[in-house]
Amino acid sequence: MLQKSVVELLNAQINKELFSAYLYLDMADFYASAGLEGFENWFKIQAQEERDHALLFRQYILNNGHKVSLGAIADPSREYKDYKAPLEGALEHERFVTESINTIYTEALKVKDYRTVQFLDWFVKEQGEEEKNAEDNIRKYELFGDGKGLFMLDQSFMARVYAAPSLILD
Ligand code: FEO
Repeated sequence: MLQKSVVELLNAQINKELFSAYLYLDMADFYASAGLEGFENWFKIQAQEERDHALLFRQYILNNGHKVSLGAIADPSREYKDYKAPLEGALEHERFVTESINTIYTEALKVKDYRTVQFLDWFVKEQGEEEKNAEDNIRKYELFGDGKGLFMLDQSFMARVYAAPSLILD
């Protein structure tokens, strides 16, 4: 059994991960409208990864004998002023998610729930990668986002392929 406070935070995290998927899908749509299929591809795959994260939290809650509660997912629609704006929005969002994971971690430590701490370790590492990816994308855009460089950058984003998460819960 897990502590109620931890289960509540884990359930809330499902919603945040699904919102992340929604947000990145909206960003993919923005780029699709602009004809930037590589950027679209990158964010569609990012959305898939976020769905995977949500499912991992769901499975962890179920594996520990608790009830999953799914709340409404907020409207992710945003207006983006240029091609760089979603990249900056993605970094800001990943920093928010990192804070959220840290909050669960802190609570788990407080109640001596070392099982959840161990589960969250994967997400702590993952968030480091997510933030770095978002920072790298902004840097690449700043270097190559103009004119012909944008075409090359779009091509490189097209090369991203989906990979299932390395964390597996049965
Ligand atoms: Fe699930 Fe991008 O954090």
